[in-house]
Formats: sequence, structure tokens, C-alpha cells
Amino acid sequence: MDRIRIVGGTPLKGIIPIGGAKNAALALMPACLLTEGTLALSNLPHLVDISTMANLLAQHGVGMALNGDARNGGHTGRVLELTAAEIVNTTAPYDLVRKMRASVLVLGPLLARCGEARVSLPGGCAIGTRPVDLHLKALEQMGARIELAEGYIAAKVTGRLKGAHIIFPQVTVGGTENILMAATLAEGETVIANAAREPEVADLAQCLIAMGARIEGVGTGTLRVQGVAALHGAEYSVVSDRIETGTYAVAAAITRGDVELVGARVDLLESVIKTLTECGVAIEATPRGMRVKADSTELVGTDIMTEPYPGFPTDMQAQLMALMATASGASMITETIFENRYMHVPELMRMGAKVNVHGASAIVRGVPKLSGAPVMATDLRASSSLILAGLAAEGETIVNRVYHLDRGYERVEEKLAACGAQIERIKGEAAE
Ligand code: UD1
Repeated sequence: MDRIRIVGGTPLKGIIPIGGAKNAALALMPACLLTEGTLALSNLPHLVDISTMANLLAQHGVGMALNGDARNGGHTGRVLELTAAEIVNTTAPYDLVRKMRASVLVLGPLLARCGEARVSLPGGCAIGTRPVDLHLKALEQMGARIELAEGYIAAKVTGRLKGAHIIFPQVTVGGTENILMAATLAEGETVIANAAREPEVADLAQCLIAMGARIEGVGTGTLRVQGVAALHGAEYSVVSDRIETGTYAVAAAITRGDVELVGARVDLLESVIKTLTECGVAIEATPRGMRVKADSTELVGTDIMTEPYPGFPTDMQAQLMALMATASGASMITETIFENRYMHVPELMRMGAKVNVHGASAIVRGVPKLSGAPVMATDLRASSSLILAGLAAEGETIVNRVYHLDRGYERVEEKLAACGAQIERIKGEAAE
């Protein structure tokens, strides 16, 4: 298992390219199941989760061709063509779903296109129980019959799914995406109220529109979908990754550096930018993205609460905590989306961070310097917070179990090293 070794203390200076959003790509790829035509996705990040989704789609019968090379043409140079001319298998097996919860996003499209789907129940994960009950209830409202047996969701519908008025009692990104895809091929109108407004949901909606879907209210909390008999192929470019952007913005801030994030979309990061600005980080839009500068001011702590978009993203909570650990004064972080998303806390504390967790809130008291230590990554965003802490810490940090990191960050050590960070990947087996 790979590890990452960092010797902290170097302010980052330079340019970091931002890739396509993992979470958008994971919803866009299964959209290919809705049509016999070819869906050509560009700006696709090169990540383990994307390969897992590709493997899942392949076993449903999706033909794939990868053209272009990210290293020569940049991220936009890589285009993945997905063609679900014929769906040969409507089962998403345990072995693939357990690797990645987003696999459940094949459920809506398979059911809409084939009238049946069998998808392994994702189960819990490191950050919480994360059920899919809201996806299933909404599909039932659309006429699906759903049984749970032997660890699988078995869904069937006679004829087409029927349009329905869905009111999500709680904002769910994956639930909104699953129902949005299913509704494009349903009979009549589907209204999704309290829909997730995350940019990745809007990206999926725009792609579905390019495929012939009729959707109104994109980017709002109410989506209206008029079902059509068939969708067609399309070309679509994946939106920029706002979480990758936010993570590198924190990398610049935590090292008191000065970095331009090329390809970043400032309009998708308002809450993160507001928070970082409150801490004393200077952020400005540039023609190519955004510049993050923290080399001239002392950073101060601030309070955040994670919320559905446009609130502060839960996927940035761990990274912000690393930054707060090095800012002066106290900060309060409250996690409202997932119940168990503080697993980075004991690891950050091993590096000298002062954090007290009380239920869903954590008080962070900034220290002048973190110190390097061997630490262990427990989930994707927790891993990135440990990398960030390592970049700022005095001495050597070894982050174990970086396979979590590879699920969501492309060439992380290359991008950071290009800005002066002392960081390297140590390949192979390691004592854990
Ligand atoms: C997506 C993102 C993830 C992000 C999260 C919240 C992808 C691949 N992943 O995850 O990175 O952290 O949004 O922004 O896009 N819930 C239920 N029942 C359901 C569905 C959700 O109780 O049927 C709960 C969850 O347990 C969680 C909350 O609702 O507490 C939000 O989950 P949801 O928005 O669905 O997250 P994901 O789509 O799984």
C-alpha cells in the first residue's frame, strides 16, 4: 500500500491545474445507460473512483473508448466515450458497490431504461450510515416495486416509470441525481422538491438536457422534468472540481503561500472563499481561475457549519479544520451532513492540533506550529486534511493508506511538488 512522505514548512508558490469534478463525473457516467447513443465526456478526472464506475458500467454492457491524453492536452484532452447500445446485465454486484457508494447511481437509469435493476445495498461507510431509503421511496412513488433481499435492492416496473411529485424530506445529492435520471424517461411530469442544488447536480441536468431531456429549474431547489420516450447521445465537458479547488486553496493558505488555481470556478466556491477570506486569506479571480495568497497576513480562526450547497461543503470540513489548527484563536466547526465525520481529529491531534469534539461540533484552538508524525488516512477528505497538515508541519509526516486519497485527487503529490512542496509517494507494502 502506498504512503506519502512530506517534509513540511515550504510556502507553496506557483500554479496548480484543477481537474473535472469527481462527483459530477460519477453521476454523468451512469447517464449513458439512458440511451443507445454515445455519451462523450471530456475533462474527466483520472481517479480510482472513475475506474470503478467504468468497471461497473462495462459489466452492464457499456462499450467504452478513451481518447486523448491528459498529460499532453491537459484534462480537457481526455475524452471518454460511453455507449450503452445494449444493456446485457441489470445487476450491480456487491464487489463493485462496496468499493464505491456512488455505484447506486446506476439504479435510476437502469430501471428507467430496462424496467428492472438489482443493485447491492451500499451499506455504511467510514463517515456514517448513509442509507439510500430516500432514493427508494422516490422510485416507489414513480411506480417501482422494490424489494430488499440478500443484501440487494431489487427494483421492477411494469411499462415506464410514472412522473410523480417527489418532496425530499432532506437534501440528498445522490437521491436527486438518481431520480432526475429516472424521470427523464418516465411518463409525464416529475417534480423534485427540496432537490439538491449542488453544482454537480446542475452539471448532470445540463448533460441530460444535451441528451434530449426536458428539465426546468436547473440549479434551484425545484426540478421539473417532462419525461420523453428516448434520449440521444451527446458531448459534454465535466464541470471543474470545487472540492479539489478548495483543497488546494487551503494548501496555499496553510503553507502561507501564493498559488494560482488554473481552471477553478470561483462562482462555485462562494462559501469556501468567504470563510477563507474571513481567516485573512487573500483570494482574487484571475482570467484562468483564482489566486490564493496568504504570505503577508496572520491567519485567524473562524466558525463554520457544513450545509447543503450553497452552504459550506461537508467535503471541505476536514481540510478547513487542518487550516484552523494553524490559525490564531479558536474556531468552531459544526458538521450537520454526516454523523461520523471527525475521524481526522485524532490523527491531526497526533500532529499537535488542539481539537475538542462535542457531538456534532469541534472546537479547534490554533497552535503556532504542527509537528510532523506518522498518521493514517481513514477516508477521502480526511486524507487530504492530513496531507495539508503535513505541508504546514515542522519535520516529516508519513500519511499511510493513501488509497483513499487516490479515489479523489489526481496526481496530488506532483501538483504540490510543482509548487515547491517536499512531498513524495513511497510505493508498495507498508506496516500499518
Ligand atoms: C454526495 C457526495 C459526497 C458529499 C455528499 C454531501 C457524490 C458521489 N458524493 O454523497 O461527496 O459529501 O453528497 O454533499 O456525489 N441520506 C439519507 N437517505 C438517503 C440519502 C441520503 O438519510 O436515501 C442522508 C445521508 O446519510 C447524509 C445526507 O442524507 O446524512 C446527505 O447525503 P447525500 O446528499 O445523499 O450524499 P451522497 O449523495 O451519498
